[in-house]
Amino acid sequence: MAPRSPPLTAFGAGKVILLGEHSVVYGHPALAGPLSQGVTARGVPAKQCQLALPSNLSRPQRAQLTAAFARAAEATGSPPVKVTLDADLPLAVGLGSSAALSVACARLLLMAAGKEPTPRDAARVAWAMEQEFHGTPSGVDHTTSAEERLVLYRRKPGTTVGKGRVVDSPEPLHVVVALAGERSPTKATVGALRERQARWPERYTRLFTEIGRVASEGARAVEAGDLEALGDAMNVNQGLLAALGLSSPPLEEMVYRLRGLGALGAKLTGAGGDGGAVIGLFLEPGPAVTKLTRLGVRCFSSQLAGPRAV
Ligand code: PMV
Repeated sequence: MAPRSPPLTAFGAGKVILLGEHSVVYGHPALAGPLSQGVTARGVPAKQCQLALPSNLSRPQRAQLTAAFARAAEATGSPPVKVTLDADLPLAVGLGSSAALSVACARLLLMAAGKEPTPRDAARVAWAMEQEFHGTPSGVDHTTSAEERLVLYRRKPGTTVGKGRVVDSPEPLHVVVALAGERSPTKATVGALRERQARWPERYTRLFTEIGRVASEGARAVEAGDLEALGDAMNVNQGLLAALGLSSPPLEEMVYRLRGLGALGAKLTGAGGDGGAVIGLFLEPGPAVTKLTRLGVRCFSSQLAGPRAV
């Protein structure tokens, strides 16, 4: 493929983890799907490959983003484009904003370099960026974003890479995403859990194994079109996350609110901790979004998989 001449546009989707966050770090499966919200990268011709840094970033954030972009540029042969970024996704609440940004940049640079931005190549380049942002992420975020499909993801034991199996849904899968306040960075929450796991390995290993089972059962429920079973798996997963010390009053309150509004299942999504995003599985998400918005809750709905209304 010949290098495509700018202006170019590429999108990276945010993600929600339906089942299996945290245990996925320890090699168990997680079920995750792409949001319609995400990050858009735009490229215009330039003398060299460069990123226009968003103006609202702190100095460490600028340094991190510059280093991550340099990794993507290196992996794609530094095509001569200037890249700008635009997000319609809430940042740092568990919705995979850094992976969305990484996939958007990866796709754009691949296209500018004349390469097909296949999910595999986009994931490879995005992974290089994600390591700057997170250190040792499980890989579920950028894999889901690059595939743009519902996936059952599993990290290969003893490695930092993993694979996502696409999970087809015969039913439309709608979630309401509601924000329940600020939270600590993922790295801190994952690190604190690792300390508890190192202190009481048998108990924590049992809980991780059970979450992995629930994630696999949830994937089978999706394939069978059994959304009630998927909702139940989400509720059980929330209980197990609370047992691991990853929930908090703001998250629990939002979980119960969503269940009260008719969610088939509801749970925190992403790293959790003292706040962040909560998801509810709904057959009809519209009325819940209207009610929550009226109550002042920041929320939106997204279809993760299944047939779309025309
Ligand atoms: O909160 P987020 O979007 O950073 O998601 C974290 C998901 C974890 O399973 C907690 C960490 C990981 O690397 O998979």
